[in-house]
Amino acid sequence: MAADEPLVLGIETSCDETGVGIVHGTTLLADAVASSVDTHARFGGVVPEIASRAHLEAMVPTIERALKQAGVSARDLDGIAVTAGPGLAGALLVGVSAAKAYAYALGKPLYGVNHLASHICVDQLEHGRLPEPTMALLVSGGHSSLLLSSDITSDVRPMGATIDDAAGEAFDKIARVLDLGFPGGPVIDRLAKEGDPAAIAFPRGLTGAKDPAYDFSFSGLKTAVARWIEARRNAGEEVPVRDVAASFQEAVVDVLTRKAVRACKDEGVDHLMIGGGVAANSRLRALAEERCERAGIRLRVPRPGLCTDNGAMVAALGAEMVARGRAASDLELSADSSLPVTESHVPGAHAHAHDHDHVHEVSKENLYS
Ligand code: KG4
Ligand code: ZN
Repeated sequence: MAADEPLVLGIETSCDETGVGIVHGTTLLADAVASSVDTHARFGGVVPEIASRAHLEAMVPTIERALKQAGVSARDLDGIAVTAGPGLAGALLVGVSAAKAYAYALGKPLYGVNHLASHICVDQLEHGRLPEPTMALLVSGGHSSLLLSSDITSDVRPMGATIDDAAGEAFDKIARVLDLGFPGGPVIDRLAKEGDPAAIAFPRGLTGAKDPAYDFSFSGLKTAVARWIEARRNAGEEVPVRDVAASFQEAVVDVLTRKAVRACKDEGVDHLMIGGGVAANSRLRALAEERCERAGIRLRVPRPGLCTDNGAMVAALGAEMVARGRAASDLELSADSSLPVTESHVPGAHAHAHDHDHVHEVSKENLYS
C-alpha cells in the first residue's frame, strides 16, 4: 500500500442498503452497511419511501461506524464519493445530500459516481487492479448488463442488457410464487442445492440464432415457471420446490454465463468480472468458473459481501477517480435515477482535476439543490 494512495470515503444509498466504505487506494479499510431489507420483506419488494427514510436515519451513524472501523479521521480523507445514480431517486438524494454536506464541511472534493461502474471497480479491493480491458457481467435486483471497460473511470461500453426483468428480479418473483419470502436469491440458491437442475427444461431467453447475442430476457422464463407451478397446483399435485428452484436457477445462470463467455471471445477479452447481488449465487459462480476455464478466460468475482450493494464499492471507484486525476463534481451535483452506464462519474461543469479548492467557492444554498 503506497503512502500516497488516496484515502476515500464512499456513500451508497441507491436502493435499500445504506453503505459507507473507506478505502486507501485498492485497500479496503471499512465497510459499514445498514440494511432496511427486513422492513421491505413484508411488501415483497423495496418500498422507495421506506428506503429513503431508513437511509436518513442510518446515514450519520453508518458514516461514524465506518470512520471508527477504518481508524481514520474525516479530516484525513482525500475525497468523498457517492452514488449519483442510477437508483431510486429519493434514496439517492439522501446519499448525495449527505456527501455534499460532508464534502463542504470538511473542504474535500466530491465525486458523484455511477453505481454500475462501482459494482465493477469493487473487485480491485479483492483481486488488485482491474485488467484493461475487462468484460463485466453485472447482475442484481435492478440490472443485468454486459459491459466492456478499458478504464473504469472513463470508458464503460454497454454490450448488452436485459430487455425486461433483471436477473435478481426473476429470482425474487419466483421466490414469491413459491412463497419463499424476499429477497428470493439466497433462499432459491440454498434450496437448489438439494434439487435437480435438469428436472424441468425451462426456456433459455434470447438464445435463438437470430436473437441479439448479448441481451437478456427473463420474463418468459418467469412466466414459464409460474405456469408450471400453477398447473401442478391445479392438478392437486405437490410442487417439487427444490427441483423447481434448481431448474429455474440453471436456466438463468446458463444464459448469463453462456453470453458473458461469448462476449469475451468475440471481443478478444481474457478477463471476466461478475458483480451485483446475483453474483453471490453459488451455481453462477461454479458454472462461470467451469466455462471460463474451458475458454481460457480468467474469472474475477468479489466475495458475496462486496457483490451486494455496499459503500466500499463507491469508495473504490472514488479512489480510482482521485488516483487518475479525474475532475471532481461540484456541489450542484444532483442525483440522477437513470444515470447512463457510460458515465462513470458526474464531473462538475467548472471542476478541474486535482482542484481541491473549488468546493469553497460554492455557496451554502447549493448544498441542498
Ligand atoms: O446488488 P444488489 O444487492 O441490489 C441491487 O442493486 O439490486 O442485488 C440484490 C439482488 C436481489 O434480487 C437478490 O435476490 C439477489 O440479488 N441475490 C441473489 C443471491 N443473493 C442475492 N440471487 C441469486 N442467488 C443469490 N445467492
Ligand atoms: Zn447494485
